[in-house]
This record gives sequence, C-alpha cells and structure tokens, in this order.
Amino acid sequence: MAVQRWDSRLYDDRHSYVTRNGQDLVGELAPRPGERILDAGCGTGELAAALADAGAEVVGVDSSPEMIDRARERFPHLDLRLADLRELDFDAGFDAVLSNAVLHWIPDAPAAAASMAAALRPGGRLVAELGGAGNITAIRGAAQGLRAELDLPRAEEAWYFPGIDEYSAVLDGAGLKVTGAWLFDRPTRLEGDDGLAAWLRMFGAPLLAGAPAPDAFVTLLTDRLRPVLHHTGGWWADYVRLRVSATKPEG
Ligand code: BEZ
Repeated sequence: MAVQRWDSRLYDDRHSYVTRNGQDLVGELAPRPGERILDAGCGTGELAAALADAGAEVVGVDSSPEMIDRARERFPHLDLRLADLRELDFDAGFDAVLSNAVLHWIPDAPAAAASMAAALRPGGRLVAELGGAGNITAIRGAAQGLRAELDLPRAEEAWYFPGIDEYSAVLDGAGLKVTGAWLFDRPTRLEGDDGLAAWLRMFGAPLLAGAPAPDAFVTLLTDRLRPVLHHTGGWWADYVRLRVSATKPEG
C-alpha cells in the first residue's frame, strides 16, 4: 500500500480547522445508534469519535501510520486501522461511509470511489467532502509563478480537485447514485502570523519540491501572497470545497 507521511501533532496543533470544518458532515450523514460507519481517511480520529459518540460502530482507516498512531493514542476505544483507501478490504457491511478532506490526495479517484462503494451495503450512504475545482488557485498560481522565475521546473500538483459533473461521473462509475452535490468557496482562516507558512510546510510539499532553499522559497511565496490572502486580521487559504452525498442502490 502507498503510505502517506504526516506530522500528526503539527496537524492537530495548527490545522484543527480541517476537522472542525468537517463536523457538519457528521450532521449531513445523520448517524443512527448501532449503524456500522466507515471513516475513510480518519486522520487523528476526531470525526470517527464524533460518529461513535452518536452511537455508531465506527471503523476509521488512514494511510498514514503517524495519523493512525495519534488517533489510537487519542481515542483508544475506537477501531482504527492503517489502510490505503484505494484498496479497502471490507465486505459490503457498512451502513455509511464518511470522508473528509482526504480524497483530493488520491488522484486515482475511480479506485478510491470503487473501494468505498464496495464497503457499503446495498442502500448504504456516502457523505464526502474534498477540495473542489478551483481549490487553492491563488496559492498554486503564485507558487508556480515563483518557480518559473527561479528557473525551477513546474511543480507536479499531486492533488485532485474535481467539479460536480466530473466527480458525479466518478461516483456513478463506482455504482453509486449521487443524491446531492455542492461546490462552494470556503475561505479558511490559517491561525497565527505564520499561518500560510505553516500551511505550506504541512501540506505544500508538491509546490516546494526541488527548491534548493525551501525556507527562503516559503518566505518569498508568503510575501507574494500577502496582498491576496492576508486580510481582516490574518491569513486565509482560498479553499473551494466539493461536498457530495450518494447512496448504493438496493439489489
Ligand atoms: C485542502 O484541504 O483543500 C488541501 C489541503 C492540503 C493541500 C491541498 C489542499
């Protein structure tokens, strides 16, 4: 399996908005006591814990050993497993699958969708949110522009930010029926004076790849983005979200 490496403490300390923004996915999924629910890409476990608090029997999976270790430390009562979302190996026993802020890390979207669909029982439901078309346009544009000026090759952006039609087709191809889809801007506050620099260090590796002096690159990039993304008292990431809900048809 492909393993993702993350600094899980930095994630919890500086990027807790990822989970906070995902909390209303739990409401959208409306877990019922006793339901078996898969948290696909559980990170450090908070949404899985929220599902369990609602009375669901939860399994959380993540492809990062650091995230799973931290999630187990925080929520030892939960069933948390290291697994690649493209290769889930569950029989079709889950009543629901929830996925927050992870599917944009998996360019092979059909494989991830097929694997989540296979984990659902007929009649089961999926609620997922990921970066959508236009996500972090300012950050990506400024980084690519700076790379060109510094004679660095164009960064390979390792993300998948689909629009509604594109992702609906992916879910349809996995045998799921889309029941709702929303593409919306979600400017996201990045805490601290170094909020954007912290974001770039945590998540921006593809944009910094090959920079001979990554810290200097981050400084130049944040200077360049300050007029666009620093306002109303702080840094903001220009997030666009795609939220979808779908069901697996009966029979
Ligand atoms: C996002 O949540 O949209 C995102 C996070 C890290 C890198 C790129 C996008």
